[in-house]
Amino acid sequence: GEEPDSSKEETSSMSDSSSEEEGDNVMEEVEIEEKAAPAVKEEQEAETKEVEVKEVEKTKEEKTVALKKKDCQPAVFIPVDRLPEIQEARLKLPVLAEEQVIMEAVKENDCVVLCGETGSGKTTQVPQFLYEAGYASAGGIIGVTEPRRVAAVSMSHRVANEMNLSTGVVSYQIRYEGNVTKDTKIKFMTDGVLLKEVQKDFLLHKYSVIIIDEAHERSVYTDILIGLLSRIVALRNKKGLPMKLLIMSATLRVEDFTENKRLFCTPPPVIKVEARQFPVTVHFNKHTPLEDYTAEAFRKTCKIHRMLPPGGILVFLTGQAEVHSVCRRLRKAFPYRPNNMEHTETEDTSEELKKIKKQKQKKSVSLPRIDLDNYSALPVDDRDEDRQAGIDDDDDDECSDLDLGDQPEDTEEKADPSIPLYVLPLYSLLAPEQQAKVFRPPPPGARLCVVATNVAETSLTIPGIKYVVDCGRVKKRFYDRVTGVSTFKVTWTSQASANQRAGRAGRTEAGHCYRLYSSAVFSDFSQFSEAEITRRPVDDLVLQMKDLNIQKVVNFPFPTPPCSEALVSAEQLLISLGALEEPPRQGRMVDMKRASLSCPITPLGRAMAAFPVAPRYAKMLALGRQQGCMPYIITIVAAMTVREIFEELDRPASNEEESSKLAGRKARFSQMRRLWAGQGQSLLLGDLMVMLGAVGACEFVGCTPKFCEENGLRYKAMLEIRRLRGQLTNAVNAVCSDAGVCVDSKMPPPTESQVACLRQIVLAGLGDHLARRVQAEELLDSKWRNGYKTPLLDEPVFIHPSSALHKELPEFVVYQEIFETTKMYMRGMCAVQPDWIPKLLPQYCHFSGPEQNPASWYCTLSGNVKCQQKSTFFRVGWKLPAIEMD
Ligand code: CDP
Ligand code: MG
Repeated sequence: GEEPDSSKEETSSMSDSSSEEEGDNVMEEVEIEEKAAPAVKEEQEAETKEVEVKEVEKTKEEKTVALKKKDCQPAVFIPVDRLPEIQEARLKLPVLAEEQVIMEAVKENDCVVLCGETGSGKTTQVPQFLYEAGYASAGGIIGVTEPRRVAAVSMSHRVANEMNLSTGVVSYQIRYEGNVTKDTKIKFMTDGVLLKEVQKDFLLHKYSVIIIDEAHERSVYTDILIGLLSRIVALRNKKGLPMKLLIMSATLRVEDFTENKRLFCTPPPVIKVEARQFPVTVHFNKHTPLEDYTAEAFRKTCKIHRMLPPGGILVFLTGQAEVHSVCRRLRKAFPYRPNNMEHTETEDTSEELKKIKKQKQKKSVSLPRIDLDNYSALPVDDRDEDRQAGIDDDDDDECSDLDLGDQPEDTEEKADPSIPLYVLPLYSLLAPEQQAKVFRPPPPGARLCVVATNVAETSLTIPGIKYVVDCGRVKKRFYDRVTGVSTFKVTWTSQASANQRAGRAGRTEAGHCYRLYSSAVFSDFSQFSEAEITRRPVDDLVLQMKDLNIQKVVNFPFPTPPCSEALVSAEQLLISLGALEEPPRQGRMVDMKRASLSCPITPLGRAMAAFPVAPRYAKMLALGRQQGCMPYIITIVAAMTVREIFEELDRPASNEEESSKLAGRKARFSQMRRLWAGQGQSLLLGDLMVMLGAVGACEFVGCTPKFCEENGLRYKAMLEIRRLRGQLTNAVNAVCSDAGVCVDSKMPPPTESQVACLRQIVLAGLGDHLARRVQAEELLDSKWRNGYKTPLLDEPVFIHPSSALHKELPEFVVYQEIFETTKMYMRGMCAVQPDWIPKLLPQYCHFSGPEQNPASWYCTLSGNVKCQQKSTFFRVGWKLPAIEMD
């Protein structure tokens, strides 16, 4: 019952702009092809295709007529019945003064940029302006994108509340959750959600306006959406289906959007909202605490509370665990006295929590009041969404829920207990009802203190803040080039962010900002945070864009384009993985670089695009549905993406006793590894079999810290693997509803034939990491003894003594990565049977004789070392959902 796809004709007209010199067009071509269903293509499909296309065209015409009749252009003023106190509060917001100007600009232009200081009312008010002007009443709805889930949820509730409308009308949609109904008129969503919708309906027929909020954050998906929408809006208007685009930013730095000729031929108008900002005095620390900035934040907050006049305190830290730890210490230092607290937290009084409360009171008598905030049911950490939608700013794998009392005693800060401090945490994974508390006034007589991550920097404005404590750091996502996995690291923030944070103190009156670092450090900060797209690998992005039928990714109007080499090499990797069609070979020589610039996606590529992992691993998942291999492939991919699952035992010992202890552990662990590696086929799966065996054994006993400790496994890594396995299982089941992969963490060891299949799947995914042992007759130099040749390096690489394949020395192996200690070693290895190579990696093979029946072949990958083999293998194309392997 899917709507017929109609993107072909619509999008082909995107390319009819002036084409000047090739590769230098002002309005670049963005070719988008008719989307092929990611299913097995039948032979007969070619014949039925023509008929189908006509069918599609007809329905599209009907759709167009229907939309025209409704007409998206606003006609009437839609009254909103607001409560008087709400109306009064609204009138104080700076953006209200600009309503006329904004609405005029929106009427006159397809795209408008709106800049306004955080808290000026952009997010909550602009959707209301558009609603009142009738933009949601003529056949289309108002869509608002946020880079963070917390903002999407909280803003939808706030706006529903302000407009006196139900959440069925002002709704939200985040990856796995939402309350959108058929009556929805204003829809808040994460940028990732809208991107997925573009995949289904390129022209976004159901929207009359799209607001891209928080554009200054420059999240990858926001950037891509702006690029796409610049075209979508132009196309919609050309087709007489008007649509508006509003880009909202908290900073004035919008030239990447407005001055970018690739994006908009005529620069969109920029409207500035002047916010009343009271002066904020900035205080720098003399010294910069390098490690323990949370302790410093705690001390500073205590001082402010004891010594300075009333006014809310906002503390900026980097992640959930830090926030909780500082909240705990503050509550300990400034206990509540319950009869002082008129605010009772009604939402927390469930039986369950009462029980915990009792238990905890028993356990730690010294605790004056139980901080129920720490028990808030944290939503499941679905980091895959974060990876897809690029939202999560403060993810933290440390959930500090129940442990208490491990904090150092805060003797020096015994404060005057007569002034209550109302301490609230705020971070993006906090339950919505907990988040909502920061917007309510604190209990009478108490001072509000919000300990937050950088969600409070621009997405959420907390009323009544007079003091800001800024640790100067931010948790940023870094990408591992090998695994494509993102990890979060704490780094210095930018000057622009630090100033945003300071600004939070001057919204209602003059305020103070205490920076926990010196002015010298501040002047070393980068001026602005750079666009995320320039500091992450792009192979997964290119795949996502191809899945959107964007052929020439290099020509895509990125607000800040990634470097073209990165795009070309991403495209080449995707071609070699079979995710994109190979460029046609003209004669013998192909200019791969030129030819690979506009390769369309293959059905395999579409299947891969559905998985939230780097393309190499996505390919393994896409091929995992054979012989019941999926649970194993999921585990292997999870284990490969979690780094360092084994305890490091090669560290130098400080004394003899430790050294002998280490040696003992090492002996035991290598014995375990041998056990997990198994025999026969299993052994040939190599290090990956060891990972599989470790996870299998660990889950068999229920993944206990004790088991991990005894067997040299890192407990945290094992928990992470478990989490990832759950997520990937869900993703696989969502992609192929009939896959029916079980979430059971326990699994029996794979059979011999399953292991053979697993080895081939791994080869198919890691194909460009193929290495071949240098044969005795090829030995040029003694340094090559037992060495392997790889396509990337001129030097030999070796099998590490700790590898399961150390004694095997197989002729061909694939590896996950190369690391260097005394020599260069391969990590994460698996042995490969030579005759699989022409079948699974035909792109890397040179065939003599007709391709369909090659007489012999050699692999061009393993350093051009010829390895002639009589072969009867054909070049096989990928067939999905399942291809048959040996
Ligand atoms: O988007 P922008 O930063 O320009 O401002 P906003 O998020 O629309 O916030 C406007 C005002 O509404 C601020 O003063 C917030 O404190 C307030 N607000 C609120 O009281 N409760 C919410 N749930 C959301 C916003
Ligand atoms: Mg906002």
